[in-house]
Amino acid sequence: MEFEVKDISLAEWGRKEIQLAEHEMPGLMSLRKRYGTTKPLKGARITGSLHMTVQTAVLIETLQDLGADIRWASCNIYSTQDQAAAAVAKGREEGTSRGGVPVFAWSGETIEEYWDLLYKAFCFYEGKGPNLIVDDGGDATLLLHRGYELEHGDNWVYLESKNEEERCIRNVLKKIHAEDAGFWTRVVESLRGISEETTTGVLRLRLREEQNTLLVPAINVNDSVTKSKFDNLYGCRESIVDAIRRATDITLSGKTAVVCGYGNVGKGVAQAFRGCYTRVLVTEIDPICALQAAMEGYEVCKMEKALSIGDIFVTTTGNYHVINEQHMRQMRNQAIVCNIGHFDNEIDIASLERASDITKQNIKPLVDLYSFETEGHSILLLAGGRLVNLGCATGHPSFIMSISFTNQVLAQMTLWQETHKPQMYLLDKRIDEEVATLHLAALGAEIDSITSEQGEYIAVNVAGPFKHEQYRY
Ligand code: NAD
Ligand code: ADE
Repeated sequence: MEFEVKDISLAEWGRKEIQLAEHEMPGLMSLRKRYGTTKPLKGARITGSLHMTVQTAVLIETLQDLGADIRWASCNIYSTQDQAAAAVAKGREEGTSRGGVPVFAWSGETIEEYWDLLYKAFCFYEGKGPNLIVDDGGDATLLLHRGYELEHGDNWVYLESKNEEERCIRNVLKKIHAEDAGFWTRVVESLRGISEETTTGVLRLRLREEQNTLLVPAINVNDSVTKSKFDNLYGCRESIVDAIRRATDITLSGKTAVVCGYGNVGKGVAQAFRGCYTRVLVTEIDPICALQAAMEGYEVCKMEKALSIGDIFVTTTGNYHVINEQHMRQMRNQAIVCNIGHFDNEIDIASLERASDITKQNIKPLVDLYSFETEGHSILLLAGGRLVNLGCATGHPSFIMSISFTNQVLAQMTLWQETHKPQMYLLDKRIDEEVATLHLAALGAEIDSITSEQGEYIAVNVAGPFKHEQYRY
């Protein structure tokens, strides 16, 4: 079995954690029960680029039980749980359809390794690529599109790189091109679609769709109600404080937290701090989200004002340089700075590394103290500015990931079973409602039904969908 993980001997520990997680992932387990014998994904080759955690292990093995042939990489250099990666690589029953899955991921990859490992997740047997991609953040989609464009005369790979990440992407693409100049064209020809997990990946897909450069169909899983209104919100509500506590052991009660952005993730993060008796300040650029925050009783203010007040800063925007060097120069001594948005460019860490009056001291893995000689203060940066909940903790817990990943499996089945044009799609509202239904019983929740008379009165079918498309939940 081909795989690259940190330590395969961690498999036994990983397996025990996966078994515990299965109990908390009723949506995925019910899909295994429903489709385990008919195997609707039989024949499908799937490349995954999504945090290689215990929860993702349950997703991978569900896709495997539905018949798929899978290769997997992580979508972040710090988020892999090595015991989960080892358990998936070892598999449940050697030599059977429940055998090991090729996993290419470990915690603490370099950026160069990250892009190499992602490419390996694309390389099936006999020069074949995947038929389906599960993407989180759009890196697999990016590699595929840039690779295809290179094979069709585009010169992007020969341009100057602005940073190390770009340099590594260009290098891996050049290497592949030298080895097999038709690889990405073959991949695109055999690809039935991509399902994208997160807001930032959806943004990147939308740009391609607008520019008419999207090569394959893509299902926007993020904007299923049972994804963005659950994972992004309740998931981050569960995992943000866990990460800050594990990293710093700070007392949150009485402190002031600044939540930058009040979208779905920001709402969850703000609630989490409120639950710890932390004073919460919110910064926003969108008047609607700002008004929502104000109506929830949070103090909404400009970043400039928050800088001198905040003890903890969390970026949740998916935007670029939301916290910059000047901001960090104005913060209080020992302010904690972290990001829960998808990419590490929300906080301008590169500027800290460049400045001659700033020194960095590592306190422990993924906790760094930056000291500013000019201002005479320090700040504590968590997870190197990358997703703090997956770097300093273990991400969202299983039940929440079951809701997200049930959508992912149903998206993969849709792409495999139906033919789509190269554009973006949402999953049907019936699927959204079904995903919710699969998770109600585990929480002891029961719902009422309506009579046909009531259905007519509110203009919905008695079997659902129970809301019209414009309803915003
Ligand atoms: P969203 O669009 O719902 O919210 C982002 C908010 O940030 C918006 O309200 C926007 O107006 C605001 N914003 C943008 N620029 C700003 C600025 N300069 N200052 C203040 N506010 C600003 O997106 P979301 O679903 O909340 O996702 C946010 C990010 O988190 C994305 O990168 C997403 O991929 C990521 N995400 C991470 C996790 C995780 O587990 N860490 C989970 C889900 C999503
Ligand atoms: N995103 C947030 N938390 C996660 C987890 N536990 N596994 C995979 N992806 C995640």
